[in-house]
Amino acid sequence: MKRILFMAGLAVLLSSYKQPEGMKSVVERGLSRSVEQAEYLAKSMESDNDSLPRSYTERTGLIKSNSHCWCSGFFPGVLWYLYEAKGSPKLKRYAEIYTQRVADQQYTTDNHDVGFILMCSFGNGYRLTKTPSYVPILLNGAQSLSTRFKPVVGLIRSWDTKTDKWRYPVIIDNMMNLELLQWAAQHSDSTKFAKIASSHAKLTMKNHFRKDFSSYHVIGYDPETGQVEKRNTHQGYAHESAWARGQAWGLYGYTMMFRETGDSSYLHHAKGIARFIMSHPNMPKDKVPYWDFNAPDIPHAKRDASAAAIMASAFIELSSLTKETPDFSKQCLNMAEMQLRSLTSAQYLAKKGTNGGFILMHSVGNLPKGTEVDVPLTYADYYYVEALVRYKKMVLSTLKGKKN
Ligand code: GLY
Repeated sequence: MKRILFMAGLAVLLSSYKQPEGMKSVVERGLSRSVEQAEYLAKSMESDNDSLPRSYTERTGLIKSNSHCWCSGFFPGVLWYLYEAKGSPKLKRYAEIYTQRVADQQYTTDNHDVGFILMCSFGNGYRLTKTPSYVPILLNGAQSLSTRFKPVVGLIRSWDTKTDKWRYPVIIDNMMNLELLQWAAQHSDSTKFAKIASSHAKLTMKNHFRKDFSSYHVIGYDPETGQVEKRNTHQGYAHESAWARGQAWGLYGYTMMFRETGDSSYLHHAKGIARFIMSHPNMPKDKVPYWDFNAPDIPHAKRDASAAAIMASAFIELSSLTKETPDFSKQCLNMAEMQLRSLTSAQYLAKKGTNGGFILMHSVGNLPKGTEVDVPLTYADYYYVEALVRYKKMVLSTLKGKKN
């Protein structure tokens, strides 16, 4: 009798033990939900010719932007990545429509965000379709961006506003815009684009980072001499804190610069940032960071899904670029997998038809200003979908035949 009871108990125990979901299933589930949400959002804004989606709250409904907003290129980018993953003509048509809406940004010279805007939209579109008319738009964009580079400073100026605080502000986010310059360097005869990108990346490495590889958000330079005047934050908790999305931009930016140039100093730097993030004592168990690693109300501080999504995408790429150090490469991949699992859970992934059509919930835009706190954000969706597609291409496709 005892033996029967023991066996029955064991059977109950074993049946309650659930195998963790395989990454293939996580990725496919994430992509399917992303398609449902993105198609819904694309359809709902189809006739609204000058608008792009930015965020959503129950109180305000859908929050839209015009093409000049730094966020305008992300939704077209989501559509391109989903088209890449699924091959559906409907997604391609939407991607083309929304990409065209940001074309006028090729001539923008009053801020640095043209790199974000055009690479996510036209850059992805060109990568996938080789549409010839996208080339001059991207090259014009790179030319516009390069007008913000002042040789005596050696960096691209980020903002023209806030001149009362900073005379020549450069923010860590600006590393992301260098990808457009690298693209232009490879698609034109001009040598200036690569030179500007390299100068910006090297000086950012020197001036934006602390010894532990965490970064400041804003460095204020003297526009006449290039001397550092201020080391500040704008969207983080404090000047000396580590704003989570800023750390993500740095990780992604230096990984991308290593991919584009093969310069090992960028790889060394990306690895340092990766170690800072992975070993941080305030990184939560589910690897979705608090909005600032030094937020005073941790563990009650808001999480930032956008930072997790950017990091996951960068960690996947960094893992693929560091195969010669297998332990480190594996660590990066594990981190990305944990982040993707969390983001694809009910905690962060929106239910079909909710969240205004955005894919992820719980991001933080600018907490000190009290704007976009604990909301969906179009850039969280972009980097999440990019990470899913990267994982599929860089990891799952190499596992064919192996059990996942
Ligand atoms: N680039 C602006 C931000 O990360 O909020």
